[in-house]
Amino acid sequence: MNKRGDAIVLIGFMGAGKSSVGRTLARMTGLSRFDTDEMVAARFGVTIPEIFATHGEEAFRDAETEALRELSGKGQAIIVTGGGIVLRPENVALLHDLGTIVYLSADEETLFARISRRSTRPLLQTPNPRATLTELLAKRLPFYRDAADLEVDTSGLKHDVVARTILNRLEEHGRGSNHPER
Ligand code: S3P
Repeated sequence: MNKRGDAIVLIGFMGAGKSSVGRTLARMTGLSRFDTDEMVAARFGVTIPEIFATHGEEAFRDAETEALRELSGKGQAIIVTGGGIVLRPENVALLHDLGTIVYLSADEETLFARISRRSTRPLLQTPNPRATLTELLAKRLPFYRDAADLEVDTSGLKHDVVARTILNRLEEHGRGSNHPER
């Protein structure tokens, strides 16, 4: 088994706050931030909905795995992932090698309220997005929980409170000293 890296890796469902919390963590720690959605969009040169529409989900997932491979060896960093990254066992192994995996959870109402603010998620462009969310979340929960080193419930919390909680929890786990705070 590879030695685990020093990154803080955020996983979780769409609307869990991964992107915003990732930005806050990067600001608080001074570490570089990498976002697999941004890397994949940059690789294709178009938005994620356009990638799904033109190339299909499989092509998106392949590029997502490729992005994770590129991140290996980045050392201390904040790594933000897309909500479906845990579906491929290969991805989970790559995430595990990158560092400590933090699962950002939230109750369904919170997720739906946050997701509804923007309609950029191709997987929720269905006749009944609320039902799709319930279905997808039920399928994915075990994957998030299996992959995670720790879980932080973000429901009702501001991004900076979540970020601070993560840093405190990592400290308790003895993995915090590698992440200097400014
Ligand atoms: C996806 C989540 C999205 C993005 C893509 C697929 C998913 O990222 O990767 O639309 O399968 O849950 P966010 O979790 O940042 O919305």
